[in-house]
Amino acid sequence: MRILFITHSFNSLTQRMWCELRARGHDVSIEFDIIDSVTEEAVEFWKPDLILAPYLRRAIPESVWSKHVCLVVHPGIVGDRGPSALDWAILEGESEWGVTVLQANAEMDAGDIWAWRTFPLRQASKASIYRNEVTEAALAGVLEALENFEAYKQGSWKPLPLEQAPQHVTKMGQLRPLMKQEDRRIDWQKDSSALILRKLNAADGFPGVRGELLGVPCNLYDAHIEPLPIEGAPGQVVAKREHALLLKTTDGAIWVGHAKRTDKEDTLKLPSTVALAAECADIANWQHDAAGCDEIRYEESTVTNEEGALVKVGYLHFDFYNGAMSTRQCKQLLHAVEAARQQPTQVLVLMGGRDFWSNGIHLNLIEASGSAADESWENINAIDDVCKAIIETTDKLVISAMRGNAGAGGAYLALTADEVWSREVVILNPHYKNMGNLYGSEYWTYLLPRRMGPDGRRIMQNRLPITAREALDMGLIDKVMAGDAQTFAQAVVAQAEALAKQPDLQARIANKAEQRAADEAKKPLASYREAELANMRRNFFGFDPSYHVARFHFTRKTLHSWTPRHLALHRQDAPERAA
Ligand code: COA
Repeated sequence: MRILFITHSFNSLTQRMWCELRARGHDVSIEFDIIDSVTEEAVEFWKPDLILAPYLRRAIPESVWSKHVCLVVHPGIVGDRGPSALDWAILEGESEWGVTVLQANAEMDAGDIWAWRTFPLRQASKASIYRNEVTEAALAGVLEALENFEAYKQGSWKPLPLEQAPQHVTKMGQLRPLMKQEDRRIDWQKDSSALILRKLNAADGFPGVRGELLGVPCNLYDAHIEPLPIEGAPGQVVAKREHALLLKTTDGAIWVGHAKRTDKEDTLKLPSTVALAAECADIANWQHDAAGCDEIRYEESTVTNEEGALVKVGYLHFDFYNGAMSTRQCKQLLHAVEAARQQPTQVLVLMGGRDFWSNGIHLNLIEASGSAADESWENINAIDDVCKAIIETTDKLVISAMRGNAGAGGAYLALTADEVWSREVVILNPHYKNMGNLYGSEYWTYLLPRRMGPDGRRIMQNRLPITAREALDMGLIDKVMAGDAQTFAQAVVAQAEALAKQPDLQARIANKAEQRAADEAKKPLASYREAELANMRRNFFGFDPSYHVARFHFTRKTLHSWTPRHLALHRQDAPERAA
């Protein structure tokens, strides 16, 4: 089928759907929803059988939906309408939510229904639900809708009008307005921790909850309940730890990991202790070993091998907000990797975070620093140090277990391990060029050819997302496993333990050490890094400002003014637009 995506951006859900539909043999071209005339032009050029809107913030023009079947993915249950579907579901503590695929018509979200799916609504941020449950449900719904489309064309199937839907679903949604900041407002004197968490989750990653931290007006994000009992007055900031500030509530306390100041122009979402660095200088540091907001965690499991000896597996979790890894976080992760290396384990599993494995260096903190070039340099060196420590771990087998998506340097961080396992639903963006033609480091010039040979460079040039399965087929990763993040984590433990019990484990580790020594003798790791960093130095400090311009727009979420040609296939052979 020839399919045209009309979408606000090439976000994670759209990337996943694009990959999955192409893998099923469909020709998919993309146009960003900029203005109606550009959408009309894209339809004229591509002549699609079907138009899909995986992520749209505006209505499709009548000139398009009146002539073509346009299917819209709405992140709500059947009957739900309005722009804040997930926000209301999370705030109101729905136990089940869903996705509906409906046909665009004159009334927003009120068209005939082509497919729907429901799922249990997990206690998590809106962004996390969107990247996991909504994406899965949307994909399943769209695949069903595509099957229905064939029958529809033959006249043997019709979509379900909204008025008839109540006979087919257990719970009907309703038209809900845009959620306003007034609906999200936290009353620290009254609200319980659970309600505050729901309010913050319903607004995360966008728009955040308007509030105040230490007298400074801010939008708040990234909430975690602190389980330990805390003294203080509700609303008071009682402690800080690394990135987060701890606020007392009526019945406990809650960490706020990220904040965006609203007292100044042009601010970014930053770790709370950075956004309010001066204001929180005198706040007491958290005195306990662990906190509800900890980003890095290490644990072990023990199994008995066939000779009756105990063998241990280490698991290093690093759950950084949005997968972005700052200089501080890289240094702490390096420390944690070094500590894990000292443990008497035979297998070390790098678990990354639940929603993201890693997205590389922290572009927001770089953008907000006094010198973006200097901070970029510090950050890339810090992440390179982590990569080096993993590559040089030659006395254990190291596994990267990807539960969530990975992009740019974060994808190469995964390749530093001996084996890379991934959840089936993971999307990888193993390239850097979309960030202003960044050359990239993280030892990719060593790691990519090691797995894929010289052919590997094409994934760098293509600058396109790939599914875990495609990555497996091209030899970039080693294993793909089904299941949600929790099931995958359990399967990882079982398989890592099975690996630790294998009689040939010591031989594998010895081989690996030999291979590393041989690679080092042929070309030292340091020279790969030096050559990569020479290019990165030019990107950061040279005359061409592309990286700085791209980062400026990425961190400020500047709206697209055109669709890149590598996505807009319909424009590749199309005549130039009239001025
Ligand atoms: N630094 C800081 N923030 C980052 C980030 C990074 N490296 N990568 C992603 N984010 C943030 C986004 O700004 C967004 O923030 P929000 O919470 O305010 O919405 C959030 O993470 C999710 O990113 P988004 O782009 O919406 O996710 P996606 O899943 O649709 O797309 C990527 C994934 C990887 C394609 C995209 O995030 C990306 O290009 N990231 C930059 C990767 C990069 O160039 N890293 C630097 C070179 S190593």
